[in-house]
Amino acid sequence: MKKFDPKAYKQMVKEYQENDNPTGWFDSIYTDAQGDYKAVFWSDLEPSPYLVKWLKENLNFSKQKKAIVVGCGLGDDAEALSEYGYEVIGFDISQEAIKLCKKRYPNSKVTYLVADLFDYDKSWLQNFDVVYECNTIQVLPGKYRVQARKAISSLLKNQGHALVSCRSRNKGEKENDIPLPLDYDEINKFVIDDYLEEISFLAYDDTQVPSIPHFFAIYKRNEK
Ligand SMILES: C[S@@+](CC[C@H](N)C(=O)[O-])C[C@H]1O[C@@H](n2cnc3c(N)ncnc32)[C@H](O)[C@@H]1O
Repeated sequence: MKKFDPKAYKQMVKEYQENDNPTGWFDSIYTDAQGDYKAVFWSDLEPSPYLVKWLKENLNFSKQKKAIVVGCGLGDDAEALSEYGYEVIGFDISQEAIKLCKKRYPNSKVTYLVADLFDYDKSWLQNFDVVYECNTIQVLPGKYRVQARKAISSLLKNQGHALVSCRSRNKGEKENDIPLPLDYDEINKFVIDDYLEEISFLAYDDTQVPSIPHFFAIYKRNEK
């Protein structure tokens, strides 16, 4: 397993972004783990507690419903949705991430797929009751963040819910950070530009030391 070097990581991401190849580096994070999923530095190896809370509070919602997890990484959130009764697709642009999911959960009911959010299967358009996104937008630059947000919204059925989890920042701060957290105006474009309804919005600091500010937002496609 290669030792994680934060400085070299940020430099690598910067170079890919400057070469307009914003997704070219993701697979390397998983291949560097050399089969040991615990070595993937950004994975919590457990589902988001905010997702689990929502699942517990919305038990009636899951019956025969379809969920999709964008940039599913090592599969923890996809597995949680599956445990609560959803028919789940977990997809990631990284082949190695998907290999690790299949190795980690050999008996899973989740369908794990290599796919690109920017070029997803046409049958996915407006086809999901729940779309879960955690930390994908923040690892993309500029116009790709907008494209990602629009693609996430486009997966939602009418009356479906998008659950969006990310790092957050105040406007004008940390503008050169990698990952680049979302500010309120950016995340609120799910409402302003994609016409989703905000169901709940939480700004919180996580439990790391020092703690990192986050948003966890729930939106609904509510077309009459
Ligand atoms: C910061 S990681 C977060 C992984 C996971 N959601 C988690 O919370 O642990 C971002 C993930 O998005 C994936 N990703 C990035 N761009 C993507 C795209 N265009 N389509 C699908 N997956 C993508 C990456 O491969 C990576 O697994």
